[in-house]
Amino acid sequence: MHIKILGASAGGGFPQWNCNGVNSAAVRAKKPGFQARTQSSLAISSNGTHWVLLNASPDLRQQINDNSELWPAADGPLRASPIKAVVLTNADVDHIAGLINLREMQAFNVYGSSRVLDTLNANTIFNILNPDFVPRIKIELNSVFNVQGPDGDLGLSIEAFDVPGKVALYLEKENTGPGFGTQEGDTIGLKVTDTASGQFFYYVPGCAQVDDKLAARLKDAPLVFFDGTLFTDDEMLKQGLMPKTGKRMGHISISGPEGSIKAFEDLNVKQKIYVHINNSNPVLDENSTERKIVEAAGWKVGFDGMEIQI
Ligand code: MLT
Ligand code: MN
Repeated sequence: MHIKILGASAGGGFPQWNCNGVNSAAVRAKKPGFQARTQSSLAISSNGTHWVLLNASPDLRQQINDNSELWPAADGPLRASPIKAVVLTNADVDHIAGLINLREMQAFNVYGSSRVLDTLNANTIFNILNPDFVPRIKIELNSVFNVQGPDGDLGLSIEAFDVPGKVALYLEKENTGPGFGTQEGDTIGLKVTDTASGQFFYYVPGCAQVDDKLAARLKDAPLVFFDGTLFTDDEMLKQGLMPKTGKRMGHISISGPEGSIKAFEDLNVKQKIYVHINNSNPVLDENSTERKIVEAAGWKVGFDGMEIQI
């Protein structure tokens, strides 16, 4: 299976358009050790020819232009795309807005939980993806499905499972308690398997907590892409960027007693890669202490264009 990170950044990207925080300013100034990143998405393929996007970021047009695997074949028909399906893990702007780039009556399938499809269905702008060409297929949680493109099976199966998280920011409901109206299916993780080889990995770009259930699932996994939004829960407050903690946003932090380094410590995951990294996160500075800490704990910091074959 071919896996490529199209965008390793969280919502807003790196740098974020209106941000003069220390990291965004440094990457704009081309300071050594800082690398720009687009918003959160992976591309996967069983054969290197047909591709499935895991999330469709607002930067998808740039991501397609930057990754020749996603171009129409030079000797192909006048209208064509190797992108045969998109699988959505939540309704974050950084995960669904890119669908709008995929208009033009090109056939592919969109997969999402009922909660995420409800959001697409409620926002008529997504009808620019004509349902005659772009069916929306409901993911049943905790059951395995074979990912299909318009011309048939793509050689990949997926099992989706609910993970601790929060409903998308713009869907939050007031006075509904700490979850702001979050329901099952608002944030899912994916186990993706190459059906021919049996090789698999997990993709969990948004996660509030590694509870016992998630820990048991990820134990001994060969490869996990995981929520690396923040290094510390209050880093955005400390940097004066936003009056919100990671917890309030539904994101686990990397450090601390409840953080992902600690949570993965005994899980024996062979390859651990952070994705969905917020522009405030000090691990984005390749020379930072925090970067050394995550690397010493066996993690890699995902970057655009990072490729993995399993
Ligand atoms: C998140 O990951 O929490 C969201 O993408 C935040 C946002 O919509 O800006
Ligand atoms: Mn997000």
